This record gives sequence, structure tokens and C-alpha cells, in this order.
Amino acid sequence: TGLFTYDTGYLSTASCKSKITFIDGDKGELLYRGYPIEQLADHCNFLEVAYLLKNGELPNQQQKGKFEMTIKQHTMVHEQLVKFFQGFRRDAHPMAVMVGVVGALSAFYHDAMNFYDAEHRNISFNRIVAKMPTIVAMAYKYSMGEPFMYPRNDLDYTANFMHMMFGTPCEQYKPNPVLVRALDIIFTLHADHEQNASTSTVRLAGSSGANPFACISAGIACLWGPAHGGANEACLNMLEQIGDVSRVDEFIKRAKDKNDSFKLMGFGHRVYKNFDPRAKLMRKVCGDVLTELGLENDRLFKLALTLEKIALEDEYFIEKKLYPNVDFYSGIVQKALGIPTSMFTCIFALARTVGWMAQWEEMLIDPEYKIGRPRQLYIGAARRNVAPIDQR
Ligand code: CMC
Repeated sequence: TGLFTYDTGYLSTASCKSKITFIDGDKGELLYRGYPIEQLADHCNFLEVAYLLKNGELPNQQQKGKFEMTIKQHTMVHEQLVKFFQGFRRDAHPMAVMVGVVGALSAFYHDAMNFYDAEHRNISFNRIVAKMPTIVAMAYKYSMGEPFMYPRNDLDYTANFMHMMFGTPCEQYKPNPVLVRALDIIFTLHADHEQNASTSTVRLAGSSGANPFACISAGIACLWGPAHGGANEACLNMLEQIGDVSRVDEFIKRAKDKNDSFKLMGFGHRVYKNFDPRAKLMRKVCGDVLTELGLENDRLFKLALTLEKIALEDEYFIEKKLYPNVDFYSGIVQKALGIPTSMFTCIFALARTVGWMAQWEEMLIDPEYKIGRPRQLYIGAARRNVAPIDQR
């Protein structure tokens, strides 16, 4: 009709005003509430970053202690929720389980609907941030046929997650501080990324006044796809498929072929047209973890370094400004940490929950907020009459 701007994929539409995350795609810069991601990864832990994203400021020592205590009070899930897991096949993809179980939280916390009250929004934030590690670890344990592990509140957030993932009732889990720190940084790098597909999904679902846990479940569903959060899993599968440095050229050639649907997973980004700053940090974390584990010569890490080098020197990738994104190295490091490929996107979801909830709240308290309702350009049949069935 010409009344609306046609902007498929929202390439040039700002859907909201936000004070949370800033990306300069040309410079390759990412700021949470004004702080560079590099400094946050260096100086803060994930829960400090969570506090920052939600509240706008970093916590002082006292606020940090109080926040950590509050989160610990919410780490357990309702015993009734355990039954939801049992309805799934053991071989279900953990992201499918996550969509269902996190959505089910909305049935446990009807008070989350009082979201016009700041205190209730805080409680919902604390609940979901505290329970995500428990639910992710339960999804893993269920897939393995192992017993669920209760959270240990003597451990900090990330160490407790590793305990629930890798501990068993037979043995006290002793977290390796280097690996805990690495995973904590991975969480920080994934915590928010402004109006990406899953965050926009959470905002859109939330704009109708839906239950926040149901909105997070919608975000998890969107994140699952290989063009978004599922890229870390797809990237590791791709590296396994390439298998050897000698086959890199063949796959680069395929990625450049218009008639081949193959894309270099972990490469390219809608906003970054320069290096994704998270990818640089992730490569460093990856190196640190492999060194700690004595895996410096890891086959896939070497393959990834070669692939990256060749792609960055290739005209196609240079011209299209395709650089490694956060997912390029995250699969290798997670694999080294002992996390199976099918769980990678769950780790992303765990961390991104913080950003989703911060964005959801920002939307709700924005006086300009309206229900999200895109328009369309109709290109279907013109008005016509229904013929009786014997005349069709
Ligand atoms: N390999 C080969 N060619 C590519 C790639 C790639 N990974 N990414 C983009 N291109 C080409 C694409 O074919 C297109 O070519 P042309 O202009 O000739 O049609 C051009 O580069 C522009 O790409 P686009 O798909 O139009 O760009 P987009 O902004 O719509 O998509 C993307 C961005 C991330 C979905 C895409 O780069 C991609 O599919 N990458 C692989 C998947 C991936 O790593 N996703 C993780 C994103 S970062 C984590 C997150 O936040 O989710």
C-alpha cells in the first residue's frame, strides 16, 4: 500500500530506546551500561554484570554480597517441576526441554504477573537468574540418565553450576578455579547484546503483558536456531565435519558458493562489520582453558585457528566484512570444559536470561511502550468470492 516502510529482517528499524547495551559495529565495540566488555570480563564476575545490566550501576561490596545471598535463596526449583523433565524423552534436545521447563515456571509463579510493581519484577529476576543454572544442569543430567544434583549454596554461582553439571552423589565435586573463572567469563560475554532476535522476541512477547517466564521461554525458542545462539553447536559440528586442516580450503570454497547453502558457522554478524569483541575474548579464554587442561595441541582449536586465518585473508570474507563472532571459539572451549555439544546453546540461554530480563523490565517501565505490532505489505490474492465445493 506504500503506507509502511518495508524493512524485512528489521535492518533499519529501531524497535525501542534502550540504556542497556551499546554496540559500535564498525569499531567492534560492545558496552554494557557504558562499560567496555573487556573491562567487565577482566574485573567483574557474572553476577556483578547481571546486577549492572538490571540496575544500571555496578554493585559495591555490600550490594554485591546481598545480591549473591538473594540469588542463593532461589537456586532450588519446586519439587513438582522435576516431573516436567520426566515427560521428555531422554534423547530430547536439551533446548527443547528448556523451552518446556522454563515455560512451565510460569505455572508456578502466578505472582510474576504483578509486574507493574518493582519489587515483584525484582523477585522474578532473582528467581529466574538463580534457577537457570539448576534447570540447565537438570536438562543435562536427565539426558545422561544421572540423578539431579541439588544446588550447593556454599559455592558461588558458576562453581555451583559446574557442581550440578559434573558432580554426582558418589563424589564431592571440586571445582577447578581456572575453569570456573573461564565459564564465568563466557557467561559475561553472552549476558546481553541489545535487540538481537531472541531479545526482540522476549520484548515482543512481554509487550502483550504475558508472564515473564513464558516470555523467557519464547526467547529460548528463538535462540535455539543455528543463525542465532545455535551457531556455537553448529560451529563445532562444522569443525568436526571439516575434520582436518587439509580440508579447510574445500569448505571455504563451499562457503563462498552462492549455490551451496553451506555457511561458515561462527562467522558474520548483522551488526559487527569489524571483529566481534567477544570473539577476541573468547579466543583468549579458549587458549587459557586448553593450556590449563594440557590440551594446547587440541585438534579442533588448531583447525579453528587455521580456518580463521585463511578466511580473514580471503577476498570474499574481507569484502563482505565477515569476521569470527562469539560462537566461533565458544564451542571449543565448552567442549574442553566437558560440556557436550547439545548443551552449548543452553549455556548461552542461561547467560542471556539476564539480558532478556533486564530488557523486559526496561520495556515495561518505558512510558512510551506499546504492544509490538509490525505491519505488512500484503501481496496475496485480491478480494474474491468463495465457490461452492463442487465448483472448485
Ligand atoms: N559464511 C559465508 N557467507 C556468509 C556468512 C557466512 N558465515 N555470513 C554471511 N555471509 C554472506 C551472505 O551469504 C551474504 O552474501 P550476499 O550479500 O552475496 O547475499 C552476505 O554475507 C551478508 O550476509 P547476510 O546473511 O545477508 O547477513 P545477515 O546480517 O542477515 O546475517 C548472520 C547475519 C549472523 C545470520 C550470518 O552472518 C550467518 O548466518 N552466520 C553464520 C551463523 C552464525 O555464526 N551465527 C551467530 C551470530 S553471533 C551470535 C548471536 O548473537 O546469535
